[in-house]
Amino acid sequence: MAHEAAPGTTPMADVTGKTAFITGGANGIGLGIARALVKAGANVVIADIRESSLAEAKASLGADAQVETVQLDVTDRPGFARAADQAEARFGKIHLLIGNAGVGIMGPIVDARYDDWDWAMGVNFGGVINGLVTILPRIKAHGEGGQIVTTSSQSALVPISFSATYTAAKAAVLGLSEAIRGELAAENIGVSAFMPGPVQSNIAMSGELRPDAFKADSGYRAREEELGKRAVSPLWMTADEVGERVLAGIRANDLYILTHPEFAAGMRTRFDAILASMPDEEINQERAEAIGFLLRNKEFEDQLARRTATPVTLPGAGA
Ligand SMILES: NC(=O)c1ccc[n+]([C@@H]2O[C@H](COP(=O)([O-])OP(=O)(O)OC[C@H]3O[C@@H](n4cnc5c(N)ncnc54)[C@H](O)[C@@H]3O)[C@@H](O)[C@H]2O)c1
Repeated sequence: MAHEAAPGTTPMADVTGKTAFITGGANGIGLGIARALVKAGANVVIADIRESSLAEAKASLGADAQVETVQLDVTDRPGFARAADQAEARFGKIHLLIGNAGVGIMGPIVDARYDDWDWAMGVNFGGVINGLVTILPRIKAHGEGGQIVTTSSQSALVPISFSATYTAAKAAVLGLSEAIRGELAAENIGVSAFMPGPVQSNIAMSGELRPDAFKADSGYRAREEELGKRAVSPLWMTADEVGERVLAGIRANDLYILTHPEFAAGMRTRFDAILASMPDEEINQERAEAIGFLLRNKEFEDQLARRTATPVTLPGAGA
């Protein structure tokens, strides 16, 4: 694949023998990422709230795969620490944190109640935070480098109507990832924000995971039930395909891992609309110098240079 980095040039250019902790790894995209990592020789810890899926997920990765499973609700902070302990007890060190667990909760903003907001933000954003607070110090401590991958969504880049509870969390995940990447580079820990478009998965069945604590004050429960009956389109990308794309992004230490070129025009229009809304005035140089630290993030320039020099080649599109 054209955007693989040479070994040694990025923190996780070679994942052989490294350990990945994948939240929401028992189904869909997380399992696709697990499969790609196992094939590449990594050890994998699958942490998922759906206990019923854990054994099946492990079996699907093959008898020879180095896989540990642990039931975890990513909103459970003590549980997260115990799961990380279990991962270290089995494999010694964690190198890759894939903050991927998520629930597809959305609908009209006028129907969103506090239980909808709290569950959506708690899993989709809070789960990523809990992973960082629990596992990042462990990666830093062993000093062998690592990679943080956060599963955001294309919806963070092209927000659409009727998706506020989902999009707000995914946009937060993206901003968080962009903000921490420069800080962690000095620790030899890469950060990648993963923004998939539609992928074949169980996400439409998220409603069955809604905890009792978030049921009383919800405006979305009937909608979730309907969504759960909807068939997954064969046009959506497969989880195994996106898993390979994530692995390529990890090896290259890409800041952004994208999957669907169909979104490019909509993204460009959004960024153009934002830029077109900038006051058409002279720059105040003195002010610019005073706030210079706010005006750029070197990580964007690095990513642009990396991608311009080595354009992403989509699998199946030739060399
Ligand atoms: N499928 C898509 O089209 C799509 C698009 C963009 C982003 N995403 C994101 O990808 C990630 C994976 O979703 P997917 O599409 O594979 O869905 P999925 O439902 O197939 O997989 C999500 C997994 O997360 C687990 N999970 C849910 N809540 C959890 C919790 N509180 N603690 C631990 N595990 C929990 C589920 O049991 C499931 O195994 C999510 O963050 C989702 O928002 C999906």
